Amino acid sequence: MTIERQRAFLVLAAGLLCFAAATVVLQGCGGGAASTAPPPSDLIPSLEPYTTPSGTVSTFSATGSIDPNGVFFQALGTNTRSCASCHQLSQGMGLSAANAQSVFASSNGTDPLFLAVDGANCPSAASGDSAGHSLVLNNGLIRIAESLPSGTQFNISVAQDPYGCATTTNASSGQTMYSVYRRPLPASSLTFLSDVMWDARFSVSPLNSASTLSANLGSDLDAQAANAIATHEQGSTTPTAAQLSQLISFEEGLYAAEATDTQAGALTANGATGGAAALATQTYYPGINDAFGQDPTGATFNPAVFTLFEAWEGSSNAAQASIARGEDLFNSAPMQITDVPGLNDNPALGSPAVIVGTCGTCHDAPNVGMHSLPLTFDIGTSHLVASETDANIIAGLQALTAPSLPIYQITGCTNASGNAVVYVTTDPGVALATGQCADVNHIKVPALRGLAGRAPYFHNGSAANLGQVVQFYSSRFQMNLNPQQLVDLQNFLAAL
Ligand code: HEC
Ligand code: HEC
Repeated sequence: MTIERQRAFLVLAAGLLCFAAATVVLQGCGGGAASTAPPPSDLIPSLEPYTTPSGTVSTFSATGSIDPNGVFFQALGTNTRSCASCHQLSQGMGLSAANAQSVFASSNGTDPLFLAVDGANCPSAASGDSAGHSLVLNNGLIRIAESLPSGTQFNISVAQDPYGCATTTNASSGQTMYSVYRRPLPASSLTFLSDVMWDARFSVSPLNSASTLSANLGSDLDAQAANAIATHEQGSTTPTAAQLSQLISFEEGLYAAEATDTQAGALTANGATGGAAALATQTYYPGINDAFGQDPTGATFNPAVFTLFEAWEGSSNAAQASIARGEDLFNSAPMQITDVPGLNDNPALGSPAVIVGTCGTCHDAPNVGMHSLPLTFDIGTSHLVASETDANIIAGLQALTAPSLPIYQITGCTNASGNAVVYVTTDPGVALATGQCADVNHIKVPALRGLAGRAPYFHNGSAANLGQVVQFYSSRFQMNLNPQQLVDLQNFLAAL
């Protein structure tokens, strides 16, 4: 199915008077991102390609096709949204800010994506008001409201509230809810997860052992989906067991990856093993290739985490050769990893002040890029230049274009030497879920597949493009990549 055909039934879903035949290009018709769908015969084939800025992305489905009437595409709550409002095939099962902008324009802001509950800067935003939706439009951000658990170790206060809803009150529980703004993670490659959500809050049952992975992942994703229906879809009743099991088996069968590159061609050409079909067959178990010696088989860490484009090394095709050089930089360019809470202060890892590592030190799961065991880090993405003291973090942040977000101050924590620390942050990350000082600003290590179609990057959309991502890393971890290396690494990431 072409992108136009998908848009066609999305538009029908929005209930607009747009009786486009499935193949008609929909200039001028309202776009949409949701729910009801075309006739059942109109299955989307597995690996159907969709255009990205640098090629095409496609999603492998374990069942051989995708039913656009399936439960993932149905409105399961009360507000007409479906899972596909934010997790779209055309964007590697994520959401790009560019797509949000075009859907906003074509629907005059009425698409369910922009519902004020969390698809706007604040719940008070008026439908169609682009200023009130600036975070979703410019940075692809969804508002997540979380309350702190009882027994929270720290005090949190609002230092800056640019939109007026940094805190809200939960109508039924009366609890204070803190607003953080996060990118939709792709609903894809889920069988490789070691943590569910940026802040791991749905890692209810741990994803750390092969013997329990399947059962624990199923229960974590159940909890995640039930919560998504209750919050994003404003569900008033609990989903049925049948709905949940259909949702989970559907999404667990999805693997999205870039399929073709405009310059380099098919990412499976000349011996390369890119693309979603190969991704679906990737070997994985919790702890595989663990960078810190925890692979349960006893195997030592191999920093060559990605091997997809080895066959393109020295290729006479310049674009293929660049991607292969980028892969090699990912696997071997040295990084000075310092001041990363969760890593450099982790007693289980020997609290190393400096680790000379590589991208794979954190992104260690072969050809996917998650961390293969549950471990979350603070690489500095939610820090603010104004309150930052580490020169490398400042240099990294200066490569990004962070949106204006609520700023929180966290007090009442001490560091390893027993001195009081004050955190200034736009997103306390894992600490918002656990209430633990040791978790402040921690974010999970996400998958690196299907990136090109779902800019911007990082949990808060602070890297507008992959160029900013690589410049961030080069500065933050003193890689000092030269201009050609920056381009090669960026081309490689875009080909994942
Ligand atoms: C309004 C947008 C929106 C809708 C609708 C939505 N999601 Fe999400 N989804 C997100 C965001 C944002 C995150 C990341 C939130 C976080 O980490 O705090 C996310 C995260 C996820 C993850 C975690 C992936 C990972 O790597 O940890 C899964 C799985 C998921 N969503 C599935 C679903 C399902 C299933 C539905 C429908 C029942 C759904 N989503 C509906 C925005 C949405
Ligand atoms: C110290 C651990 C660590 C190292 C080393 C590391 N990363 Fe990351 N990476 C993370 C974490 C944690 C995140 C999530 C941060 C966030 O969203 O705020 C992340 C996020 C990303 C993302 C964004 C993905 C998305 O969906 O938004 C990309 C791309 C990425 N890393 C690429 C790289 C590359 C390339 C390198 C090597 C140059 C690298 N990483 C090295 C920990 C690391």
